[in-house]
Amino acid sequence: PLPRSTNVSHWVAHYIIESINQFKPTQQRPFILGLPTGGTPLGVYRLLIEAYQQQKVSFKHVITFNMDEYVGLAWDHPQSYHFYMQQNFFRHIDILEENTHIPNGNTSDLDAECKRYEQTISQFGGVHLFLGGVGSDGHIAFNEPGSSLASRTRIKTLTDETRQANARFFDDDLNAVPKLALTVGIGTLLDAKELLIMATGSNKADAVQHAVEGAVSHQWPVTAIQLHPKAIITCDHDAAQEL
Ligand code: GLP
Repeated sequence: PLPRSTNVSHWVAHYIIESINQFKPTQQRPFILGLPTGGTPLGVYRLLIEAYQQQKVSFKHVITFNMDEYVGLAWDHPQSYHFYMQQNFFRHIDILEENTHIPNGNTSDLDAECKRYEQTISQFGGVHLFLGGVGSDGHIAFNEPGSSLASRTRIKTLTDETRQANARFFDDDLNAVPKLALTVGIGTLLDAKELLIMATGSNKADAVQHAVEGAVSHQWPVTAIQLHPKAIITCDHDAAQEL
């Protein structure tokens, strides 16, 4: 765990900025960044915007792939991940719109959309750095407990626990939380060159304990990071309290 004085968001934002700046992009191979939503990464996005404004980083040669999206929420719905990304990050930086990718949960053929998403990631040669949060039940992206560790982008039914946890974003109205989502798979995440998971707060302590000390198991999807040659988990003291 980081010392109390060090903030997880600062550490992660700094890591991303360094990774982008050290990378030598080419037309064929720009920097490919995987991105999450949720409450945890908000501080990171704020700091990346600040760094862009201070000309410490540019996203002109960065291509992004988001982890997941709800099924059936319009793109301009305030809780859709499309809306979240625009509001909290993309519209404040110099990234080109065509370089941002988020699964489309509003298409009639969701299976085809999942295949297309995987193919697009492959066409770019894979993700350099995938940033992620973790659910209190150990889910990563929307890979709920029980997800295959080899899974690819697909439709997932959300667990009651995840829907309850996310109801806070839907005026605490559980019925308004979608039941389905499109999500990159655990296999997709493990394919990234680097995997950087953030966890803050005591409600993440069990997930962090399993991720670091538990057996690799599909019951705690985040334990899959143990199979990755370069996975980093950044957490605050509260999230590390069970270690
Ligand atoms: C959602 C997202 C995950 C995220 C998790 C935790 O389920 N699909 O990507 O990691 O929530 O969110 P929070 O950071 O708000 O705790």
